[in-house]
Amino acid sequence: MNKKNNIILIGFMGVGKGTVARALVNSSSYFAIDTDDLIESIESTTVKKIFSIKGEAHFRALEKRCALWLENNVDNTIISTGGGFFKQENISRIGKIIYLESSFDGILNRINNSENAKAKLKKRPLLQDLDEAKKLYNQRIEDYKKVSDITVNVENKDMKDIVKEILGNI
Ligand code: S3P
Repeated sequence: MNKKNNIILIGFMGVGKGTVARALVNSSSYFAIDTDDLIESIESTTVKKIFSIKGEAHFRALEKRCALWLENNVDNTIISTGGGFFKQENISRIGKIIYLESSFDGILNRINNSENAKAKLKKRPLLQDLDEAKKLYNQRIEDYKKVSDITVNVENKDMKDIVKEILGNI
């Protein structure tokens, strides 16, 4: 398969895909974009409102549009994604897929220890009910691994080591 030169970060909500993307930008000549940001900008609203007003199916259709656009138009870029983006059928044609892995409790600790923990939880419709979120995590973990080219464990790891591991693997 003719892979494009993008780096795609996948993983569960709150694992730190955006933070890792920004750290990669600071240590390389790459630029970064985020699929949720792209969707919010074309809809002029937040992911939270898209879910509550138009529904999850509409959001997934926007993710699909975004995935096709990325495949056809974007190269040499770090792409952080929403936690469900890994299901896009063309994802492996967009670039090299890196799964950021952490336990569910590790993710909750990361969110709860962040400065804006409340806002981070509030903006994520699928993190409102933590029992449901854990079920979703358990449903998804194997598939994240299956779809990825590289798995990077990020739990309790320094950002500089995460960046080194990713840049050493691409
Ligand atoms: C989702 C994750 C969110 C966002 C939407 C759905 C998911 O992104 O795309 O709320 O299905 O896991 P983050 O992973 O950045 O929270």
